[in-house]
Amino acid sequence: MVTRKKTSRGTRSAPGREIIIAPSILSADFADLKTELRRLERAGCSWVHLDVMDGHFVPNLTFGAPVVAALRRVSSKLFFDAHLMVEAPWKMIGDFAEAGAQQITVHAEACPDLPKIIRQLQRLKVKVGVSVRPKTSLRRVEEVLDEIDNVLIMTVEPGFGGQELIPATLNKVRRLELHRQKHGLKFRLQVDGGINLETAPLAVAAGADVLVAGSAVFGNGRVASNLRALRAAASEAPRLRGAR
Ligand code: DX5
Ligand code: ZN
Repeated sequence: MVTRKKTSRGTRSAPGREIIIAPSILSADFADLKTELRRLERAGCSWVHLDVMDGHFVPNLTFGAPVVAALRRVSSKLFFDAHLMVEAPWKMIGDFAEAGAQQITVHAEACPDLPKIIRQLQRLKVKVGVSVRPKTSLRRVEEVLDEIDNVLIMTVEPGFGGQELIPATLNKVRRLELHRQKHGLKFRLQVDGGINLETAPLAVAAGADVLVAGSAVFGNGRVASNLRALRAAASEAPRLRGAR
């Protein structure tokens, strides 16, 4: 059983890995994102998850680099974690890096040449993330795990907030956690979709370090108390035997 110390910005599992809650603004008030970001800062968040959708890779359309640049002017503190649910992401990663994204996660399904776009992202000096949809095999990412900073396991079909977590996706998290331990790799394990008070401990127990949550944070408007509750739920989770 791993004991934990609570930190203001998350929950630290002793020894080492901190559990980070990354609120997704997809469920925030798009008419007042400035206020929403300030609320996240006041609630002690260190990350914000930016769901970029192009209406092609997923059947929804959200926002692009200009909005990220505007949000960057609002908050210099939050770590901007951009999740690109787009076709041909190589065409726009430069714009998002320029706009202030500090981590850019692309979908393996949208990248025929994953090693090439990873090199492009490294040259942009951003943290490199790769994501897979629920039905996509981990084989798509296993070949690059030693080169990336973050693996984003979609625990719902990407495109919309407020969906139920697909339990079988946590098996991917478990497999990646064991692979990470076995090979001493450093990538963060992020989960995204249907993360709430009930599923957060399950995701952490499987090995997740970063929990994306949209509706569970913004859904009822009580952002600060929702975040406190999520951190508490995540900190109660036992980690995989021998996990860091
Ligand atoms: C879905 C997005 C998720 C979503 C999470 O395509 O990638 O980040 O906003 O929303 P909830 O937490 O409501 O499932
Ligand atoms: Zn996302």
